Amino acid sequence: MKRRHLPPVLGALLLLALSLLSLSSRRRHHLLLPRGPPSQHAAEGGDALLRRLAAADAGGDQILAEAAALLANASVFSFPSIGNRYRLLYLRLPYRANATAAPRQRAVSRLRVPFVTVPDDAPLLAAFRASLRSFLLARRRGGGEAGDDVVTGGGVAMGGLAAAGLLGRAGKKKKRFPTCAVVGNSGILLGAGHGPQIDAHTFIIRLNNARIAGYAGDVGTRTSLSFVNSNILHRCAARSATTTPGGCDCHPYGRGVPLAMYVSQPAHLLDALICNATATPPTSPFPLLVTAAWLDAVCARVAKYYSMRRFVAATGEPASNWTRRHDERYFHYSSGLQAVVMALRVCDELSLFGFGKAPGARHHYHTNQKKELDLHDYEAEYQFYRDLQERPETVPFLDKLPGFKVPTVKLYW
Ligand SMILES: *[C@@H]1O[C@H](CO)[C@@H](O)[C@H](O)[C@H]1NC(C)=O
Ligand SMILES: *[C@@H]1O[C@H](CO)[C@@H](O)[C@H](O)[C@H]1NC(C)=O
Ligand SMILES: *[C@@H]1O[C@H](CO)[C@@H](O)[C@H](O)[C@H]1NC(C)=O
Ligand SMILES: *[C@@H]1O[C@H](CO)[C@@H](O)[C@H](O)[C@H]1NC(C)=O
Repeated sequence: MKRRHLPPVLGALLLLALSLLSLSSRRRHHLLLPRGPPSQHAAEGGDALLRRLAAADAGGDQILAEAAALLANASVFSFPSIGNRYRLLYLRLPYRANATAAPRQRAVSRLRVPFVTVPDDAPLLAAFRASLRSFLLARRRGGGEAGDDVVTGGGVAMGGLAAAGLLGRAGKKKKRFPTCAVVGNSGILLGAGHGPQIDAHTFIIRLNNARIAGYAGDVGTRTSLSFVNSNILHRCAARSATTTPGGCDCHPYGRGVPLAMYVSQPAHLLDALICNATATPPTSPFPLLVTAAWLDAVCARVAKYYSMRRFVAATGEPASNWTRRHDERYFHYSSGLQAVVMALRVCDELSLFGFGKAPGARHHYHTNQKKELDLHDYEAEYQFYRDLQERPETVPFLDKLPGFKVPTVKLYW
């Protein structure tokens, strides 16, 4: 019944989601890359070695360990705040300073939530653990079980869409979008006047809720999907908890525009639940998709491969020395990279705007942020985008995805 009231973009997104699902269900076996004996590696050429090293995902292992610790030992504890309209809610994990010290509780997350709409501590913890379980299951498989969910690798935040009757309705037919634009946030967009060109695409993805008001001429005005990392959801959920009725004011492009999110910290699955619980009609449940596990795995490999390749070329050191430059546990692809790989999967033609740097250009078009985050290697990611445009056949890992063909990619500065 609810389907009739769906904004067109949600319908389109459903199809996008389903096509990702159909990939993820076939995907599992291919992600297990060969790990041959050392003697075999000695004979490997440079590129094969890079591919093999890039397939190890220390950051992904770290996230799995965090999720497992939360599932086993996390507690939720809250108490009234601000005249009983809100609760201050703590997600806690026990820790010991050393082997003999008594365990103490560490706050992993602290959130102010409306008193009535968010479930009590016990049911909230139960729902959070259910989310963690699906998340772990999908990641350990390297894909997602068909029927689990759509874009996601966990029945998790997707539960909301399932509840709205969105799943299992559109059949298996794959929908592709004729023209897509992913709009990066680089300052090179300022003054380039790409706005109308961006708006002319069928499907437009924006990143990390970057502001568009005041920048129409350079970045356009239309948005089909807002792609964020879970830190963004966490921050805006915390910030808007008391300022916006219902909280979770995380929709700068309109409350009907869905969010796709990748999970950078498993604790953020709690934010997703809380946002879903506080969403009010007409956006109830919260239009939030969690991206599939296969997407995380492929993006981690691509980002590490290009970063290693750049490191080897720049320093002449062996690829195995790459960890001297980057802490493997925290090295991560940017939101833009995952949005681009997702779009590659569902678009016939993909245009990239606002990826790149120029002397004197701001890091972000919409902020004055000077410093880049160390955990990304943007130069390496730009090389990946150039390869997508100029020599897609050389891009590793994507060719291992069943039925994956890199569409025409155009980079605009
Ligand atoms: C949960 O806590 C127990 C007791 O401190 C600990 O032994 C165990 O390793 C923890 N589980 C995880 C998955 O971290
Ligand atoms: C372990 O931690 C406790 C409490 O913080 C402290 O009193 C004790 O000295 C510590 N022991 C060691 C061996 O560091
Ligand atoms: C999201 O909210 C809807 C109702 O508002 C509920 O039916 C659904 O179970 C929720 N999903 C999750 C994952 O909490
Ligand atoms: C690789 O790193 C090690 C230290 O981890 C260093 O001793 C070695 O010189 C590096 N290799 C080259 C070729 O620079």
